[in-house]
Amino acid sequence: MDIKRISKIFILTGAGISAESGIQTFRDKGGLWEKYNLEEVATPQGFRQNPRFVHEFYNQRREDLLKVMPNPAHYALARLEREFPGEVLLVTQNVDDLHERAGSRKVLHMHGELLKVRCEACEAIFKEEGEIFPETRCPKCGREGTLRPHVVWFGETPFYLDKIYRALKECDLFVAIGTSGTVYPAAGFVVIAREAGAWCVELNLEPSAMADYFHEHHYGPASKIVPAWVNEVLTRVRS
Ligand code: NAD
Ligand code: APR
Repeated sequence: MDIKRISKIFILTGAGISAESGIQTFRDKGGLWEKYNLEEVATPQGFRQNPRFVHEFYNQRREDLLKVMPNPAHYALARLEREFPGEVLLVTQNVDDLHERAGSRKVLHMHGELLKVRCEACEAIFKEEGEIFPETRCPKCGREGTLRPHVVWFGETPFYLDKIYRALKECDLFVAIGTSGTVYPAAGFVVIAREAGAWCVELNLEPSAMADYFHEHHYGPASKIVPAWVNEVLTRVRS
């Protein structure tokens, strides 16, 4: 890869980039989906069946999130956005706010944001760090029983897909970090980027399900390999 030729970098992150901050991933050993039945807490049907149980699940995840900090991988991506002479777009499948807390500004949360809540009646979206229950009233329309986590569940459409597909076709460097490459549409992003001529790099703990689509691979803990990779990119672009 000739780094001088790179003007647009598309970065996709998954649960693995937040693992060393202490946030469980989904499909690793001991991951979230081993402890909770995905259908109960990450589907619209599960929410309709037992809204209180789902609200309590997300209240707990919000509380846990306030106790953790970004790790060197998050800070390295914020540094890349600040110091790289071209464009850097960060699309994350994560619902945590660690990229923002590390200083990243251009972040698209395609699966929503844990610290935000949405009213299904008036569509108001607001930041909430406390607890939400079925009887909590929407601060905008005042209705009760209409609030839900602003998180994308299985069966629902992720956010920002038009913007994401456009950026995938325009980028010259596609980097996937800490994602298992098993959940669509994100798992298919590398195929689009590669077909559009981008150089594709995978940084993960071990080969993802999409590893064969990448030109370059770096394996190891994100807190080590992401800062090293960002260092190398910024050093080469300045040489
Ligand atoms: P999908 O139906 O394409 O997802 C199917 C994939 O989800 C499977 O390939 C598998 O990897 C995974 N999956 C499904 N059931 C599972 C289970 N019981 N245990 C572990 N993994 C399971 O996804 P979708 O219906 O298009 O969902 C839309 C989006 O919602 C997805 O991109 C998903 O990532 C997202 N989502 C977000 C959260 C969150 O908390 N942020 C939770 C769940 C789903
Ligand atoms: N450093 C780098 N990679 C890591 C680390 C680490 N310290 N720890 C785990 N990983 C890797 C794992 O090897 C795995 O490939 O991160 C990936 C985590 O995969 P998943 O748990 O499947 O998370 P993700 O790919 O983000 O899941 C996609 O599916 O359940 C839905 O919406 C949910 O956003 C999630 C989506």
